[in-house]
Amino acid sequence: MAKTEIATLPRHIAIIMDGNGRWAKHRFLPRQAGHRAGLNAARRTIEACVQQGIGALTLFAFSSENWQRPRTEVSNLIELFVGALDSEVAKLHKNNIRIRFIGAHAAFSQALQDGMRQAEKLTQSNIGLVLNIAISYGGRWDVVQAVRRLTFEAVAGNIQPEEIDEARLSHALTLSGSPDPDLFIRTGGEQRISNFLLWNLAYTELYFTDSLWPDFDAAALQAALDWYAARQRRFGRISEPVGPES
Ligand code: FPP
Repeated sequence: MAKTEIATLPRHIAIIMDGNGRWAKHRFLPRQAGHRAGLNAARRTIEACVQQGIGALTLFAFSSENWQRPRTEVSNLIELFVGALDSEVAKLHKNNIRIRFIGAHAAFSQALQDGMRQAEKLTQSNIGLVLNIAISYGGRWDVVQAVRRLTFEAVAGNIQPEEIDEARLSHALTLSGSPDPDLFIRTGGEQRISNFLLWNLAYTELYFTDSLWPDFDAAALQAALDWYAARQRRFGRISEPVGPES
C-alpha cells in the first residue's frame, strides 16, 4: 500500500474504537468475542501507524463511563487488558514503541497498575511510535486533575494564579508531551466525542466512519489518512493567500 505523503501526514492520531459489541452481535457471538476481535484491530492499527511513520497514536480503550457496563463485561474487558499487557508489551518494546497509559487507574487491581507502570518504564526510552492507551479515562476528569495540580502548585506558592495559562494547563494534562491530535477517528457510526480528549481535540480534524472497530485495518486507516490529506486546516484563521501579491 502506498505511503501517504509526509507533509500531509498527521503527527498524532486519536481513535475511539467503537462497534465491538455490534460486530459480535451480527455474528451471533458474545460481546467478549467482539472485544477480542477489537484487540486484533488495535494490533493491526498500531502496525499500520508504525509503517506510515505516525508519531503518536492514542486509543480509547476504556472510558470513565464504561465502568457502568454490566459487571461481567467490565471484568472480561479488564481480563483482556491484563492478557494484552502480558502478550503484547515485549513485542511493542522490540518495535521501539513507547507505551503510556492515561486515566484514573486507582480503581484497577494493584497487579494491573503495576503492569502498566512496568510497561511504561520498560519502553520509556523508545523513540518510535508513542502509543497512549486511555483506560478509565475521561476528558473532564483530565481537565479536573490538571486544574487540581495547578491549584496545589499555586497554594504551595510555586506559581502565581495569574501565571496559569493555556500552556501550563496543557502541560498539566495527561497527554503532555504529545502534540495535540491532528486526526481523530471514530468507528461505529456515532458522531460524537464521548468525553475523550476534550481539551486536546480543539482543532483536530474529526473523521467518522460506519465501519465497526473489529473491521478496521490498514486500508481503513489509509482511507482516513487520504481524507485528512485533503482537509484544509485553518486553526481559526482564513485560508493562506495563493501567492505573495494576493
Ligand atoms: C467499544 O465497543 C469498545 C470498547 C468498550 C473498548 C474496548 C476496546 C478493545 C477491546 C480494543 C482493545 C484495545 C486495547 C488497546 C487494549 P462497544 O462495546 O461499545 O461496541 P457497541 O457500540 O457495538 O456495543
